[in-house]
Amino acid sequence: MCLWKVDHRSLLWMEGERTADHTACGHAVMGWSPCMELAHAIQGRVSIRRFKQTPISDEDINRILDSARYAPSANNTQPWNFMVIKDRTLLKKMGDAVRTMVDRMVPFAENETQVQRLAAYKNSFYTFFEHAPLVIAVLLESYDAGTDTLLARMGYERDDIKRLRPWPGLQSVSAAIQNMLLTIHSLGYGSCWMTGPLVAQDDFKQILQYGDDRFIVALLPIGIPDEQPLPRTRKPLEALVKIFK
Ligand SMILES: Cc1cc2nc3c(=O)[nH]c(=O)nc-3n(C[C@H](O)[C@H](O)[C@H](O)COP(=O)(O)O)c2cc1C
Repeated sequence: MCLWKVDHRSLLWMEGERTADHTACGHAVMGWSPCMELAHAIQGRVSIRRFKQTPISDEDINRILDSARYAPSANNTQPWNFMVIKDRTLLKKMGDAVRTMVDRMVPFAENETQVQRLAAYKNSFYTFFEHAPLVIAVLLESYDAGTDTLLARMGYERDDIKRLRPWPGLQSVSAAIQNMLLTIHSLGYGSCWMTGPLVAQDDFKQILQYGDDRFIVALLPIGIPDEQPLPRTRKPLEALVKIFK
C-alpha cells in the first residue's frame, strides 16, 4: 500500500519511461516506503529480460533485500540467504557454465522442437541474467524440520513426507522472492524469477563458493527495464477455485 495520496505508479512511469529515480515521489528522502498501490504492483509486474546498464543504488539494493526478511516462513525459520553479484567476471563464468550444461543436454533431446528450445534457453532464457547490472542469488539453507523427523520416526518415507508437507522451506523462500519482485517493480526496476540457469548449480557452487548446507533456488537479475513486454495471459479465476459452501 502506498503511504502517499498520489498515484506513484504514474509518477514512476512518467512519459512512458520507467525510472528508478524517486526524486519525483520523495522516497529518496523519506526512506523506505513502497511506491505503488499493492494491487498495482501485483498486477503490473511482468518478467523483464533486458536491462539498461544503469547501476542500482546501494539504498535500493538494501530495500529490495530487506523486503525479503518480512516474508512468512515455516516455523519462522527464515531459511533464506542472498548473494548480490555485480562482478562481471563471475556473471560471465556463471553464464558459460549454463551454456556448457545446455550443450550437454542437447544429445538427449527427443525431437527438433526440443533442440530449438534448448538453443533458445542457451542464447537467452537461461543466460540473460549475465547482462543485468546486478543479480541476486537466493539460497535455501537446510534446517531441522521437527515435524518431518517425527513423520520419519513413524515410518513415513522421504517421498511420502514430501507429499504430505510439500517443501515448507522452499515455500518460505518463494514468499521472500515474491516480496523482492514486488519491491523491485515498485522501485521502478525490472526482474525475472529464474530457475533455468540452475542446471549449472554444481558449477555455481564452485564459482560462488557456497557449501553443501545450502543451494540456490533462484536468480533474480535486476535493472532498469530496457523493454516493455505485454503481460502474459492468466487463467480465469473460475478455472482455479473450488468453493465448499
Ligand atoms: C519458478 C520460476 C522459474 C522461472 N524461470 C525462468 C527462467 O529460467 N527463465 C525465464 O526467462 N523466465 C523464467 N521464469 C519467468 C516465467 O516465464 C514468467 O513468470 C511467466 O511466463 C509469466 O510471465 P510474467 O512473469 O511476465 O507474469 C520463471 C518463473 C518462475 C515463477
